[in-house]
Amino acid sequence: MELRHPSSPRAADQGFLRTGTQWYIRPRLCAGWRGRVARRGAEVPAFSLIVNGSSRRFDGFHDTPLLWVLRDSLGLTATKFGCGEGLCGVCTVHLDGEPVRACVTTIAEADGRRVTTLEALAAAGHPLLAAWIAESTSQCGYCQPGQIMTAAALLARTPRPTDDEIVGAMAGNLCRCGTYLRIRRAVRRVAEKEAAR
Ligand code: FES
Ligand code: FES
Repeated sequence: MELRHPSSPRAADQGFLRTGTQWYIRPRLCAGWRGRVARRGAEVPAFSLIVNGSSRRFDGFHDTPLLWVLRDSLGLTATKFGCGEGLCGVCTVHLDGEPVRACVTTIAEADGRRVTTLEALAAAGHPLLAAWIAESTSQCGYCQPGQIMTAAALLARTPRPTDDEIVGAMAGNLCRCGTYLRIRRAVRRVAEKEAAR
């Protein structure tokens, strides 16, 4: 079944969500479509992922964004929705350890792979969280989950990054509050602790 983008100005009242130039079906409506397809007897594909160490199954359209599955189906709301077009980085999660934009990663692309969200880093007591607090990094806080996930991926592959490497790795994560210097200090704080070991 094809999901069509509506042109009606009243579309927002009818369960569609506009982000930038794109229309999306609201997650709840998407769940409704899944139900309708199931009632008509059409085959709904099943996908399985390892989310934060646990096996999870999702029945739905192959192009459902991973972000919707995480937030709406699994209730993992630490990962945020921003631009919906892969531009801001607020929805960053790890796919097999690599940072990806969950808003433009489909469930089919994530099928059979390991997904890690901020909830797992918090549960494991990742040192970045303490560094974020120590540097008073957040202002409004909205971008910070994505910032931390990108920083965690950087430190996993480069435990002692240079300033240039930090700036380069974090460049795709936007912060409208302009906390870039504090973010850099927080990442550096963890790297320096690693260097002092
Ligand atoms: S919500 Fe902006 S990159 Fe995903
Ligand atoms: S802290 Fe507000 S957008 Fe980054």
